[in-house]
Amino acid sequence: MAPTDVSRLLDDLPPDFDRQRFAAVYAEAAGAAAAARTPGREPGYRLLHGHRVARLGLELLDQPDVAAAGPGPHARIVVWLAGLIHDLFKETLGADPPGTDHADLAARWAEARLPGHFGGEVGRQVAEACYLHNKRHLPAPVEAQVLQDADLLDHFGAQEVWLAAYYSGARNQGLDDGLAYLTGPRNAGWRRYALDHVRFDSARASLQERLRYADALVRRLEAESRGRLWPSGDVW
Ligand SMILES: [Fe+2]
Ligand SMILES: [Fe+2]
Repeated sequence: MAPTDVSRLLDDLPPDFDRQRFAAVYAEAAGAAAAARTPGREPGYRLLHGHRVARLGLELLDQPDVAAAGPGPHARIVVWLAGLIHDLFKETLGADPPGTDHADLAARWAEARLPGHFGGEVGRQVAEACYLHNKRHLPAPVEAQVLQDADLLDHFGAQEVWLAAYYSGARNQGLDDGLAYLTGPRNAGWRRYALDHVRFDSARASLQERLRYADALVRRLEAESRGRLWPSGDVW
């Protein structure tokens, strides 16, 4: 999908969202995402990851433990927009280059672009959530914490295997290289970080389920890569 084609993404909006207002923001966000590409990620990743995080965030808001934490009256729109925007200016995988904070760039973009479509208060809350998405200090608004958890989730599970496969393929590496990464210390470190930092129990449960699924998928890939005719039950 071309990064600027947002019509399919707009079809995912909840029915109570004002499609016209979101369409304007999606068009602007797609333009910003298309202006640069994160190395090691597919074209459009900055927008598509954001869209998935928006959807995950909305699902998290429906979980009883998140609802009990006291999200504000604009939480659904704030979480969606913050999810969409949070990584639009992420130049690298992992840490930002010195002197750059991609979260701050997203916050400034939100402050400049959103008030005209959604009002100043929503713009302010989205900017705050975007700014905080890569910072773990508390207190932080529930909306920012939901964004943090949704963002973590979008890196694990079947998605984790796909991201590793894409990264390896882009470097002319093979299946064994992707599997070595997935089962190696670097990915184990990312997994530990996610488990240590996830905020809500419901998000933790989803993260743990994703990790179990990815483990099973990796074991299956390992078995198939060795040319096994009938992998045993323990690999699926
Ligand atoms: Fe980020
Ligand atoms: Fe992200």
